Amino acid sequence: MKLTVDTGKCSGHGRCYSLAPDYFDCDDEGFPIVLRPDLTAADVVAVGDAVANCPERAIAILEE
Ligand code: F3S
Repeated sequence: MKLTVDTGKCSGHGRCYSLAPDYFDCDDEGFPIVLRPDLTAADVVAVGDAVANCPERAIAILEE
């Protein structure tokens, strides 16, 4: 599975890299950088809070 951020929806709230720093970093403007796009089933669980807490619903986990 693939971890993605829709840059058209993201407004830089920063919850993703605060809640899941193993999976997201931030750029100089506060927008996320996906560190680990390829997810195992355990990763999907680990990143779940970040996905659920994005106010813009900008984070998606896509089936490959
Ligand atoms: Fe953007 Fe959502 Fe993270 S708005 S910075 S993807 S919490």
